[in-house]
Amino acid sequence: MITGASRGLGRALAAGLAREGYDLIIDARDATALDAAADRIRAAGGTVTAVVGDVTDPAHRAALRQAAEAAGRLDLLVNNAGTLGASPLPALADYPPDELRAAFEVNVIAPVALTQLMLPLLRASGGAVLNITSDAAVEAYAGWGGYGAAKAALEQASNVLAAEELALRVWWADPGDLRTDMHQLAFPGEDISDRPEPESVVPAFVRLISERLPSGRYRAAHLMPVAP
Ligand SMILES: NC(=O)c1ccc[n+]([C@@H]2O[C@H](COP(=O)([O-])OP(=O)(O)OC[C@H]3O[C@@H](n4cnc5c(N)ncnc54)[C@H](OP(=O)(O)O)[C@@H]3O)[C@@H](O)[C@H]2O)c1
Repeated sequence: MITGASRGLGRALAAGLAREGYDLIIDARDATALDAAADRIRAAGGTVTAVVGDVTDPAHRAALRQAAEAAGRLDLLVNNAGTLGASPLPALADYPPDELRAAFEVNVIAPVALTQLMLPLLRASGGAVLNITSDAAVEAYAGWGGYGAAKAALEQASNVLAAEELALRVWWADPGDLRTDMHQLAFPGEDISDRPEPESVVPAFVRLISERLPSGRYRAAHLMPVAP
C-alpha cells in the first residue's frame, strides 16, 4: 500500500514495486491522475487497486483498510502522501497557524492513524512500514519550519514505532531532492530541472525493502545499489 501514488515519488515507487512483483493498493485525491497511474501499472503487467480519497479523512483510511483486507494480506505500508504546507514557504514568524495544522494533519496525524489501522495486518504478515520524510526534518532551512517540524514529528513517531513493533520493520527515509510538483511548489518560478527524477531513487527503496534492512532512518542516496 502506497499513499500519494498518482504522481511524483509515490507513482515511481508504485511502478517499481509492481515490477518487483508486489500487488499494490494506491491512493490520491485526484481520481483522474490516480486512474492514469493505475492504468500505467496495469499496462506494464502489474496488479493494482486504486482507492480515491484524502488520507486525512477517517472514512478514506477505513476504505484503504477494507482494500487490504480484501487483498488477504498486507506486507508493506508506504506513507508517502505529503504536503509542503504554505507556499511560498513562510518564515515561522509569519506561518498561518491553520496552514501549520493542516500540514501536521497530512504529514503526521494521517500516516500515524493509517499505520494504526494497518498494524494488525502488518503484524500478521511480519510486514514493514516505510515513512517518507525529508532532510528538512533534521536540517534548519529558513522557511521550512512548518514542513520540517511535521516531518520531524513523523520521524520520531517512526522511531518509537520501531521500538514498540519489534517483529516489524519500520523505516523512515529521506528521498533527497526530486523533480516533482511538491519540489516546484517549494521553489516557485525557479527552474528545478537539475533535480533528479523520482524514478532515480526507486532502486534505493527497492533495496531497503527487499533486503529487509534493520528498522531505522535512511537516506536514499546512501542506499543506492552498487553496479555489479
Ligand atoms: N520532492 C522532493 O524533493 C522531496 C524531498 C524530500 C521528501 N519528499 C517527500 O516525498 C513524498 C512525495 O513527495 P512528492 O515530491 O512526490 O510530492 P507530489 O509530487 O506533490 O506528490 C504527492 C502525492 O501525494 C498525493 N497526496 C497529497 N496529499 C494527499 C492527501 N491528503 N491524501 C491522499 N493523497 C495525497 C498527491 O495526489 P493528490 O494531490 O491528487 O492527492 C500525489 O499523488 C512526500 O512525503 C514529500 O514530503 C519529497
